[in-house]
Amino acid sequence: MDRFALAMQHRYACKAFDPARKLSDQEFAKILEYGRLSPSSFGMEPWRFIVVTGQETKEALRPLCWNQKQITTCSHLLIIVADSGVVQDESYIQAMFARRGLPADATAAYIERYKSFLAQQDVACWVQKQCYIAAANMMTGAAHHGIDSCPIEGFEKEKVEAFFALAPHQKVALLIAFGYCAMERPQKRRLDLEKLIIQRR
Ligand SMILES: Cc1cc2nc3c(=O)[nH]c(=O)nc-3n(C[C@H](O)[C@H](O)[C@H](O)COP(=O)(O)O)c2cc1C
Repeated sequence: MDRFALAMQHRYACKAFDPARKLSDQEFAKILEYGRLSPSSFGMEPWRFIVVTGQETKEALRPLCWNQKQITTCSHLLIIVADSGVVQDESYIQAMFARRGLPADATAAYIERYKSFLAQQDVACWVQKQCYIAAANMMTGAAHHGIDSCPIEGFEKEKVEAFFALAPHQKVALLIAFGYCAMERPQKRRLDLEKLIIQRR
């Protein structure tokens, strides 16, 4: 099996981590880098990351997250924040497109296309979609290094956003707990590929 396939097989949603086994800062930096390098629509990188390692903070968050064990047993808890403010901020837009180094007229045309695209989007939803791409890359990348994870949507959104005092344009897309799992690896259950293919000629 190739290394990517091995990582895909290794990754599963860990429900309880070994609280005694922590990731080093260097290990976690690699995971953040996989998020940073992820693709995003128009290259707008609308994700922002909060990293929680303190036990007290994890304990305080757990009741807001369906009391899930992953929150307090993991090594690093990542909160992926979707920022719909930056993608509509004129100076951010200019800077993100200018860095492509295109001629001025091409940059202006590109920005115009972007703005008309954005006008047709549910922006809060669009930025969240980008966050899930980063999330997937971070989990698979972690698995490549034998690090376990659990994506978490089971949380009280408004309470978690208030907990971190996020700005109104910043919403929590999802949480990911990282660490080393303390449970048996469950069998992978997936639909067969033929059930996923919609045949067209
Ligand atoms: C966006 C997302 C949110 C999830 N939220 C939770 C969660 O809150 N708690 C949990 O235990 N598992 C959660 N899961 C894990 C899924 O239940 C799990 O990925 C799925 O059952 C497939 O199992 P596997 O990941 O172990 O292969 C979530 C998965 C995704 C992708």
